[in-house]
Amino acid sequence: LQSLPPMQFANKYFEMFPEDEDPIWQNPCDDERHLAIWSKNKTCNRLPRFLVIGPQKTGTTALYTFLAMHPAILSNYQSKTTFEEVQFFNGNNYYKGLDWYMEFFPLPPNTTSNFLFEKSANYFDSELAPMRAYALLPQAKLICIIIHPAKRAYSWYQHMRAHGDQTAMTYTFYEVVTAGQDAPRNLQELRERCLKPGLYSTHLERWLEFYKPKQLMILDGEALKGDPVSLMSKVEKFIHIEPRFDYNQSLRYNPKKGFYCQLVQGDRTKCLGRSKGRVYPPMELKAEKFLKLFYRRHLVALSKLLLRLGTTPIPDWLQEELSEFL
Ligand code: A3P
Repeated sequence: LQSLPPMQFANKYFEMFPEDEDPIWQNPCDDERHLAIWSKNKTCNRLPRFLVIGPQKTGTTALYTFLAMHPAILSNYQSKTTFEEVQFFNGNNYYKGLDWYMEFFPLPPNTTSNFLFEKSANYFDSELAPMRAYALLPQAKLICIIIHPAKRAYSWYQHMRAHGDQTAMTYTFYEVVTAGQDAPRNLQELRERCLKPGLYSTHLERWLEFYKPKQLMILDGEALKGDPVSLMSKVEKFIHIEPRFDYNQSLRYNPKKGFYCQLVQGDRTKCLGRSKGRVYPPMELKAEKFLKLFYRRHLVALSKLLLRLGTTPIPDWLQEELSEFL
C-alpha cells in the first residue's frame, strides 16, 4: 500500500477518476467520515430547511418577502453579484463550494424553531439543480409558484426590456415567441429563455425524480396576488412552522400599487420595488393565441401532474384553459 502527500494524492485520484472532478456537495454532518475531517469551527446548521425554487416572474419576490416577515423564518443574505439571489445549485457558483453557500445564511439562534430558507428563481428549470439540491438537502421542502405560462413569458419579456436587453428591445413579444429555426441566434436564444421555464410539468418531474411529492408545494401565483393571507397560512402549514404569524395584521392591499404590501406603521405600507408589478401594455392577441396553442399539451400534462400530487384547488386559470380544450 502506497500513499502520497495530499495534493499529489488528489492529483493522482483525479487522473484515475476524471468524472469525479465535478463535485457533488453533501451535508458533511450526514456522514461520519466527512464529519471527522470537518473543522470544529464549522457547523452544519447554516443550511436551508426549505427552498423557493421559482420560476422567475411568478411572484417569487413577494413570497420571499412575506416569508421573511415571519419572526422564525430567516432568509438568505442577498448576493450582490447574482441579482440578489444566491443561485448556488444552478450554475457556476456551485463550484465555489459549501462554505461559500453557507456564508449566505445567518447562524440560527435556535436550530429547532428557526427556519432558514433560500429563494433562487432560476433553480426551477435548471437541469442540474434538482440533483445537486437533493444531494445537499435531501430533507428540504420545495416551494414553487406558477401562473399561466404565457403570462409568465410576457412578464419575463417585459423584464428583459426594462433591463435594456438589446434583443428584447429590437423585437416584439410576438416576434420573440414565434421565432423559428431561421431566426438570428440571439432571437432564438431569447425565445428559449422566455418560453422554457413555462414547461412546468417537465421541470417539476425532474424535481420529483429526487424529492418525494410530499416535499413539494406548488402554489398558484394568482392566489398569492389576490389572497396572500390565506396562501401564507397554507405555506406555514406545509413547512410545519409554529407559532403561526398573523399575516392578516401585516399585509394590506395598496390600491395605488395594485398589490398587497407589507404594513409598516399605522396605515403605511411598504411595497415591493418598481421592478415588481410593472405597468406595461396588454399582450397582443395574436401572441396570446399562439402561446395558448404552444402551451396546450404542457398544461394538460401539468393538470395530470397536479391531480397525481393531490394539489388542490387546481388554479382557476388552468381550469379555464382546460375547459377551452375540451
Ligand atoms: P410583473 O412585474 O410582470 O407584474 P418575481 O418576483 O418572481 O420576479 O415575479 C414578479 C411578479 O410578481 C410581478 O410581475 C407581479 O405580477 C407579481 N406579484 C405577485 N405579488 C406581488 C406583490 N405583492 N407585489 C408586487 N408584485 C407581485
